[in-house]
Amino acid sequence: MGKFLPDNIVTNEDLSKLIDTSDEWITERTGIKERRHIVKGSGDSPATMGNKAALIALERANRAPEDIDMILFATLSPDYYFPGSGVLVQKLLGIPACPAMDIRMQCSGFIYGLSTADQFIKTGMYKNVLVIGAENHSGGLDFTTRGRGVSVIFGDGAGAAVLTREEDPNKGILSSHLYSEGQHAEELSLIGPSTMRWVPEIIAENDPTDESYYPYMNGQTVFKHAVVRFSEVINEGLQKNNWAASDIDMFVPHQANLRISQFIQKKFQLRDDQVYNNIMRYGNTTAASIPIALTEAWEEGKIKEGDKVVLAAFGSGFTWGSTLMHW
Ligand code: UT7
Repeated sequence: MGKFLPDNIVTNEDLSKLIDTSDEWITERTGIKERRHIVKGSGDSPATMGNKAALIALERANRAPEDIDMILFATLSPDYYFPGSGVLVQKLLGIPACPAMDIRMQCSGFIYGLSTADQFIKTGMYKNVLVIGAENHSGGLDFTTRGRGVSVIFGDGAGAAVLTREEDPNKGILSSHLYSEGQHAEELSLIGPSTMRWVPEIIAENDPTDESYYPYMNGQTVFKHAVVRFSEVINEGLQKNNWAASDIDMFVPHQANLRISQFIQKKFQLRDDQVYNNIMRYGNTTAASIPIALTEAWEEGKIKEGDKVVLAAFGSGFTWGSTLMHW
């Protein structure tokens, strides 16, 4: 595992100088105290941050870039409209040819990436798969009071994992459970610049009230669906593996909102030491949140070999999923 966060710390106080918000509102509703933003012109992007996280993960896994058989890059904020950021990481790592695929599943992207890697490894097709989650949110948020419901929540960063073949069937990823429900696609979305309405058209319209090129979130609807789907998909994983909630050594939820994590913790009656949260420091980093949190939990010695680990995510799409593993 590896992670990379930009140095630039943006506190709730900093945001309250730009927009009509407060530390009190943000802390009470989300638990977030600060987040990281890429400094414009620093050269950091989802691909470069993903690459830095990947280099740490590769070193820790004792693998060289040329050992990687496949790259999976989860992001909703790719460097370019096309091609994907996966091929940019491939270039940065100096891997001449391997599949490098972007995963467009937003907050659930890393879970989808792990599951995809797991399938390719279990079928015997690949041995070492690099899975990255990385986001540059700050480059595309509305930092006026109009956008405050969204812009205070999201942060930038990257996390990476190197997955490798393990012969012992009781080790590693035991099961993944993936879902999408497109009927809610627009509830958390960015629909502005698209093939149906390209940038020159938006410029020609010159409509100052047009918010379509900023992310939109129907916060309360997303919240309500999140708590239900998180619970369902964790339960499904527990049942599949014959685990009780009390068996879980570490639950790492997607860092969407501390209130969601606390709701789930309470519902499954988990102790504080069974749950890892770091949204206070980084905000919601979408596809990067689980790999960053997992890296930190492991670095801090809170996940040890043989531990039962549960990951779960919910987000735009709607998409959701869980992964259960023996570390
Ligand atoms: O990772 C992807 C999945 N995303 C999620 O899971 C997010 C789920 N949703 C949420 O976490 C919450 O809905 C939010 C944290 C986004 C919002 O909290 P809320 O309690 O649902 O607030 P709200 O949107 O209902 O807004 C309440 C009030 C509104 O004012 P009025 O209409 O009551 O006067 C907003 O205009 O708070 C206002 N508001 C703010 N005030 C200060 C919205 N954003 C802010 C802000 N600072 N940043």
